[in-house]
Amino acid sequence: MRIGIISDLHIDRYNNSEDNIPLYEEALIAEIKDRNIDLLLIAGDISNSYELTMDFIRTVAEESGTEIKFVPGNHDLWQKEITQDTEEVLKRYAEQPECLVERPYIVNEEWAIAGHTGWYDYTYASGEFSYDRLEKRAYYGGTWQDKHNIAWRYSDVEMSRQFSQAVREDLESLGGRKIILVTHIVTSKRFRVPMPHRLFDYYNAFIGTSDFNAICNDFPVHYSIMGHVHFRHSLTENGITYICPCLGYKREWRTDDIRTEIGNAFYVIEI
Ligand SMILES: [Fe+2]
Repeated sequence: MRIGIISDLHIDRYNNSEDNIPLYEEALIAEIKDRNIDLLLIAGDISNSYELTMDFIRTVAEESGTEIKFVPGNHDLWQKEITQDTEEVLKRYAEQPECLVERPYIVNEEWAIAGHTGWYDYTYASGEFSYDRLEKRAYYGGTWQDKHNIAWRYSDVEMSRQFSQAVREDLESLGGRKIILVTHIVTSKRFRVPMPHRLFDYYNAFIGTSDFNAICNDFPVHYSIMGHVHFRHSLTENGITYICPCLGYKREWRTDDIRTEIGNAFYVIEI
């Protein structure tokens, strides 16, 4: 089975226009077909809106004839005007059959896929900042934008704990199968922005979480797929292959060609 993976498509950021979304759909469908993909996993940040994200997933699945599973990223959970608790937005995603949140996907007797957005727990920041300083989510004249677009009922640290616990419960139900873990938030400190760094000594706080370390020890996780950092990178450590297949914003691309960039970000695992 050939599983395609990609993340951080940010389809509504291309020249700041929704008119360009069909370009993303066409390029991703072409990539799925070219690489003979049986299942596509998207590790979050498709767009800044529930409607755009779900429309995109359904269009690509239908037109490529390929099943898609995904986790929402922080951007997918954003609301332009915060009118409801972000847990309500997450719950809406979790009700969709394509969403992996509290809905692990059993591939066969040997493999299963489990996922969650995950959340950041501030442990990736430099040790020089206190919890109170990090909790302000503002530094050097900038603000971490989730502060304005996300409204959890509990602290970031508590959300990270709750979400990792939800994944632990999923994994307990999977009968010892080999696991492909999909999160939006980063699960390995090897993927934080290298420090010392003028901004990311602070902003690394919002990149990843340490709450999956124990889960990776306790369960047979073989792959950890994640997004969020807009790196394209993979490495294997302690038997786990960590893959960050981010497309990222157009200004971060090396070329102007969406087809080339999707091809470069896209990663295939064979099980
Ligand atoms: Fe993100």
